[in-house]
Amino acid sequence: MEPYTNALLATVALLLLLAIVLRRRPTKLNLPPGPKPYPIIGNLNLIGPLPHRSIHELTRKHGEIMHLKFGSIDVVVGSSVEIAKFFLKTMDTNFICRPKTAAGKYTTYNYADITWSPYGHYWRQARKLCVMELFSAKRMESFEYIRVEEMKSLLMEVRRTSGEGFVLKDLLSTMSLNVISRMVLGKSYLDESVVAGGGRRTVVSGKEFKEMLDELFLLNGVFNVGDWIPWMGFMDLQGYVKRMKVVSKKFDGFLEHVLEEHDGRRRAEGEGFVVADMVDLLLQLADDPTLEVKLERNGDLLAGGTESSTMTVEWAITELLRKPEIFEKATEELDRVIGRDRWIKEKDISDLPYIKAIAKEAMRLHPVAPLLTLRRTRGDCTVAGYDIPKDTRVIVSAWTIGRDPRLWDNPLEFCPERFIENEIDVKGTNFKFLPFGAGRRMCPGYSLGIKTVESSLANLLHGFKWKLPGQMTRLDIDIEERYGLSTPKKNPLVTVAHPRLPLEMYSL
Ligand code: HEM
Repeated sequence: MEPYTNALLATVALLLLLAIVLRRRPTKLNLPPGPKPYPIIGNLNLIGPLPHRSIHELTRKHGEIMHLKFGSIDVVVGSSVEIAKFFLKTMDTNFICRPKTAAGKYTTYNYADITWSPYGHYWRQARKLCVMELFSAKRMESFEYIRVEEMKSLLMEVRRTSGEGFVLKDLLSTMSLNVISRMVLGKSYLDESVVAGGGRRTVVSGKEFKEMLDELFLLNGVFNVGDWIPWMGFMDLQGYVKRMKVVSKKFDGFLEHVLEEHDGRRRAEGEGFVVADMVDLLLQLADDPTLEVKLERNGDLLAGGTESSTMTVEWAITELLRKPEIFEKATEELDRVIGRDRWIKEKDISDLPYIKAIAKEAMRLHPVAPLLTLRRTRGDCTVAGYDIPKDTRVIVSAWTIGRDPRLWDNPLEFCPERFIENEIDVKGTNFKFLPFGAGRRMCPGYSLGIKTVESSLANLLHGFKWKLPGQMTRLDIDIEERYGLSTPKKNPLVTVAHPRLPLEMYSL
């Protein structure tokens, strides 16, 4: 018997050992389908200068949930309503973090703005402050006079172009920037020269202030090689990190100046001091030792908020110039509901369904963030039967969802009527339309964003007949994009505006 017992014991021991070894070896992950990656670059060879378009093409081949490798980093792309809902709602606690990027590190004081800060106490505090204080219904109402004044200036500026071709985007961005600066910083810094420069003080003009924000916005959207192939980061091959350091130093100095101004007023007014803007509020809160949110962190509000509404209105007018019949329908609605003897107020917008539909259609076909904003998984998880490891970068292709022929008839057609027949809001409740994202990381500025887009569009269409310059015809209008943190027209729209209302209406 003994040899048999020994053999049995030896076999059991061997099996146990095997089981232990097998348990220790990581099981092969069942990753979502995707193209085979190359060493070092992964699938970066498949991503062109317009990443949302490259990713869109890849999703058509690999399906609604796809795995890519950008350099050495795992990326998962969701491109259907079901998967988007899973990422942004059902499992949002796992998908709510942002990745650490050079932009987050160098332009926002170490991931300290709302956009780049990781999920946690700090982000919750900053976001709550933004939603409850800056964008609360009460605050939005109390700042309405700012939006009215800036809208008037925009309309007068357009009138001043007197039938000459002009770059629409320049006037729109001045208006949006003035609105946000006045809400956040208490005044528009475009009208004056300010002291800035971080340590080394220099004078920054209004034009430079705008350029500084453009640079901040651009650098937050660039594809920085070091973010994806970390060991190459130190070389800064594209020079982006250097530019990030320069602009953030400038911005630092500028905010120091803003802070001094506000602090001066606070001290001068003493007991009678009333909070008038976001900086005042942050200064007041700075006395509270439990709060960590600091003034410097306003950069994303200024830069992000300005560009997004501007590009949406520019796209809407571009599409309308390509389809004059939509202009006619829009002006018919404006004449019928508003008449020709007054401008449009914010409260009129709810009576202008066609204008609202044009704004939505522009956001469907030309989303500000076609891939939303990059997220990162906080832990391992399984979605639709596939494994998604911790620290995977997550993309939701709102671009693909907005062009899905199963969800939209003739998806490439600009057709506002689809939003009249089908009332869909912009608040991220319907996952087939995600202009502001969805869930807890959704755009906190959406109420201001949509108000700015709708009322500028309504007033610009009400007040002017829009034409193309020179011999240009609608067939000459290009609809190419430029990729960054937002996706504006590659070539800014140059257009001509003629007054449509009685001339006395333009002497506001
Ligand atoms: C038409 C106008 C706008 C559009 C289409 C837009 C769109 C978006 C989108 C798609 C996201 C990413 C959401 C996600 O990852 O799920 C976002 C995030 C954000 N937006 Fe907007 N936005 C607009 C206006 C504004 C304005 C006016 C502000 C502020 C003044 C603003 C501030 C932000 C911030 C701070 C975030 C980051 C939120 C976070 O990470 O928690 N946006 N926006």
